[in-house]
Amino acid sequence: MSDNLGLLFRITSFGESHGKCIGVVVEGCPAGVNLEVDMIQNDLDRRRARDQMGATPRREADIARVLSGVYQGHTTGAPICMLVDNADIESHEYSEYMRTPRPGHADYPAGIKYGGYNDPRGGGRFSGRITVGFVMAGAVARAALARIGVEVCAHTVGIGGVEAPPCDPKSIRVLSGKDSLGCCDEASSALMGKVIEAARAQGDSVGGIVECVVLGLPVGIGEPVFAGLEGEVARGVFSIPAVKGIEFGSGFALCQVRGSEGNDPFAVRDGRVVTARNDSGGILGGMSTGMPVVLRVGFKPTPSISRAQSTVDLDKGTAVDLVIRGRHDTCIVPRAVVVVEAVVACVVCDLALRAGLMPRVVV
Ligand SMILES: Cc1cc2nc3c(=O)[nH]c(=O)nc-3n(C[C@H](O)[C@H](O)[C@H](O)COP(=O)(O)O)c2cc1C
Repeated sequence: MSDNLGLLFRITSFGESHGKCIGVVVEGCPAGVNLEVDMIQNDLDRRRARDQMGATPRREADIARVLSGVYQGHTTGAPICMLVDNADIESHEYSEYMRTPRPGHADYPAGIKYGGYNDPRGGGRFSGRITVGFVMAGAVARAALARIGVEVCAHTVGIGGVEAPPCDPKSIRVLSGKDSLGCCDEASSALMGKVIEAARAQGDSVGGIVECVVLGLPVGIGEPVFAGLEGEVARGVFSIPAVKGIEFGSGFALCQVRGSEGNDPFAVRDGRVVTARNDSGGILGGMSTGMPVVLRVGFKPTPSISRAQSTVDLDKGTAVDLVIRGRHDTCIVPRAVVVVEAVVACVVCDLALRAGLMPRVVV
């Protein structure tokens, strides 16, 4: 397994869905970053299944425990070990998925790869629950980035085919924070809610899209050629379960137009070089341009659905119908907003350290 992300700001993920706990160790965070447990808890609360539309009925308190690396409200420069205990566990149904793997989930390749020794309970390491650790690390990264004026925020821009209109990046945090689906547009959110409810009523699930924006990033962050900003962000984002795609700026649409339409013209505003549009998503040559970095992340529909699905009995080599019990999200997207934000923050923090933008002690 590969459980680390980052070179200087390095996170190590540990824990399984139905094990004792889920957590993360953050190494390389500068000393002197103001970090209160509440900041971590707030982000965990945003990830937690509450009563929002489409969320799993599994209810975890997800109380953040910070075991090391923070003293009197500041990071010390030592490894920061954080975890939450797993409590609301119902594991009985999962052992059968070793024999009859769930379509769309990791049961089949994981069982083969780890010779059946992987922890199957709740999906084990392949559960969305591992993102609890990502979110805790992200809270640390965001606190560190705040010291250099960099902010990362994300919102739901699509669910089940419903698309929200564009939102001013500066309003994302406030507007998405008010909405149970993390969407900045009230009317779109209402439609998305209906789509989720219809899928749930039919024992089905839906996917969607999260947009993430990094504000305040200076020019030149990213280490071409093999650790460019897009590549490093993509690597982090693809470690989030159920992610199937990422695009930066206008992404695939940009690849369909002519250069005269697609190139972002440079201009000077208030004595600063800017681009008149931002179709490149604030990245050229793997480096930030000083414009907002904009990326969109595609999540597939939740694999565990209650409708009967075709699978195979691996012992008998026969086809069987599988009806999945257990508790699952009808739509992952609203809970994944803070996860995307967290992973992007960790990657940007690492690249900021690599660029010498952040001192080892912040004052
Ligand atoms: C926040 C979050 C919650 C998730 N909840 C569920 C769930 O309730 N049921 C499920 O089958 N998959 C869920 N997933 C997705 C699976 O973990 C994921 O699809 C599976 O590990 C297979 O990996 P892949 O989709 O990346 O190929 C969730 C993912 C995230 C990010």
